Amino acid sequence: MPAQIISGVETAKAIREELATEIADLKTQHGVVPGLVTILVGEDPASQSYVAAKNKTAHALGIHSEQVTLPADTSEEELLRIVGEYNANTAIHGILVQLPLPKHINEAKVLFAIDPEKDVDGFHPVNVGKMMLGERCFLPCTPHGILELLQRSGTETSGAEVVVVGRSNIVGKPIANLMLQKREAGNATVTICHTRTKDMDYHTKRADILIVAAGVPKMIKGNQVKEGAVVIDVGVNRIGQAESGKAILAGDVDFNDVVDKVKAITPVPGGVGPMTITMLMKNTLQAAKQAAGLI
Ligand code: GUN
Repeated sequence: MPAQIISGVETAKAIREELATEIADLKTQHGVVPGLVTILVGEDPASQSYVAAKNKTAHALGIHSEQVTLPADTSEEELLRIVGEYNANTAIHGILVQLPLPKHINEAKVLFAIDPEKDVDGFHPVNVGKMMLGERCFLPCTPHGILELLQRSGTETSGAEVVVVGRSNIVGKPIANLMLQKREAGNATVTICHTRTKDMDYHTKRADILIVAAGVPKMIKGNQVKEGAVVIDVGVNRIGQAESGKAILAGDVDFNDVVDKVKAITPVPGGVGPMTITMLMKNTLQAAKQAAGLI
């Protein structure tokens, strides 16, 4: 049977429609308009396009969105001052500082300065701690998007062998943690592989659900996956540029090599990517409702 292609585009569209309705209702019933600020330091092209996409989506859903673009030589002090300003701004419910930051800025210091109630990325230690404990919090957007994709594609996670390749704070660690919790899209047996893993193939080949977030283009081949597995490819690697100037993207999974063997797989582009942005919108709505005392 041909593999099911798990479309992030379609899933994100369905969720965005739900969000747009809820955002409109929030405005008419409570006079609240969710507000998001994105802060970009420097001119990294990938970051520029992510931030533009975030603002465009916010706007389309009826979220008030502001973008702050700062030069690469902005001081840490100045960035902290701006974050402080938005912490105090009651029209803004969500603050997103696009990563990576230039080397001279301490990333942790900046992320820790964001009010946890406005931390729609879910990167602040308060939210990370709450997530580990299974308390209500802002879930980090990419792992949150993966959970939605698994749930909405009808993938059974309870008791499944889940193997995560990559141990980043943004994807690997949180998705592994969420999937082992007693929760929807959880209750899995989870293994994390990383650059020091001795025999990665041993692990990937026994995964019912394989989640790859390693940042290495096409690293996972067909002979490294189990027949009938569900594969979630988180990689977004720029491997070239089309004549139009548009970036050519590849995932961390060699899609063509893997697709005939698996039960379901997310494409790149159009898989996890659109979900990440959608979950940011969901978190911004949650932040606005929390600030208004509605949840
Ligand atoms: N850079 C890559 N992914 C992300 C993300 O989810 N949030 C932020 N703030 N920066 C990123």
